[in-house]
Amino acid sequence: MKIAVIGAGNVGSALGTGWAKAGHTIVFGVRDVNKAPLKALCERIGATAAPPAEAARQGDVVVLALPWNVAENAVKSLGDLKDKVIIDSMNPLAMKDGALGLERGYTTSGAEAVASWLPGVKVVKTFNQVGAEMMMAGDRFPAPPVMFLAGDDDGAKSTVAQLVRELGFEALDAGALRQARLLEPFAMVWINQAILRGLGRDWAFGVIRV
Ligand SMILES: NC(=O)c1ccc[n+]([C@@H]2O[C@H](COP(=O)([O-])OP(=O)(O)OC[C@H]3O[C@@H](n4cnc5c(N)ncnc54)[C@H](OP(=O)(O)O)[C@@H]3O)[C@@H](O)[C@H]2O)c1
Repeated sequence: MKIAVIGAGNVGSALGTGWAKAGHTIVFGVRDVNKAPLKALCERIGATAAPPAEAARQGDVVVLALPWNVAENAVKSLGDLKDKVIIDSMNPLAMKDGALGLERGYTTSGAEAVASWLPGVKVVKTFNQVGAEMMMAGDRFPAPPVMFLAGDDDGAKSTVAQLVRELGFEALDAGALRQARLLEPFAMVWINQAILRGLGRDWAFGVIRV
């Protein structure tokens, strides 16, 4: 499958690396295709890079891995995405009263904002719930951690669930896209533990069954 990863930072490079290993073709959508770290990454994993709209045009799946504060303009300039599956990994993070929190929630979500910027496009929320390092640590997982996904299109969710599993996670369907209202605060649980409470970044959530 051809996967366009828009943003080659922590999340974009981790996902691109994992899926390249799994045999997918990766094109990074970036503003500057000549940056040395990006070139090294592309060479290491056998990926290519192109301006964001061109990368998105090439992808069957388009992953949004951008900072929230640039997301609206950047996403709206990606062109026609109607035939594609969009993965939204972004958390609508913002500083409020000196603390990191979510810019929106309870009655809406970042993912629903993304869907409103891209009418008629299949958006699936996932890969927002753990640190980027975990997204390419699949070969070291003692058991599959959970990765929830939410979206309104079952076919798109099934495509994304397979991509989630290929990175070593258990894919659990959280329901419709509006369930991103739960998944984005869930990311704050990870951030709170990992960063603010000192647990570190090398863990993820798991489902324990009896
Ligand atoms: N970091 C994590 O562990 C983690 C985990 C889960 C979810 N997330 C979410 O994932 C998203 C990305 O996080 P990250 O840590 O990967 O961020 P990051 O390391 O800062 O990378 C962001 C990427 O977006 C690109 N970018 C910035 N402004 C842009 C614009 N206007 N147009 C196109 N590209 C632009 C940057 O390119 P340049 O290099 O050219 O600036 C960079 O490649 C965020 O929404 C975050 O909340 C992060």
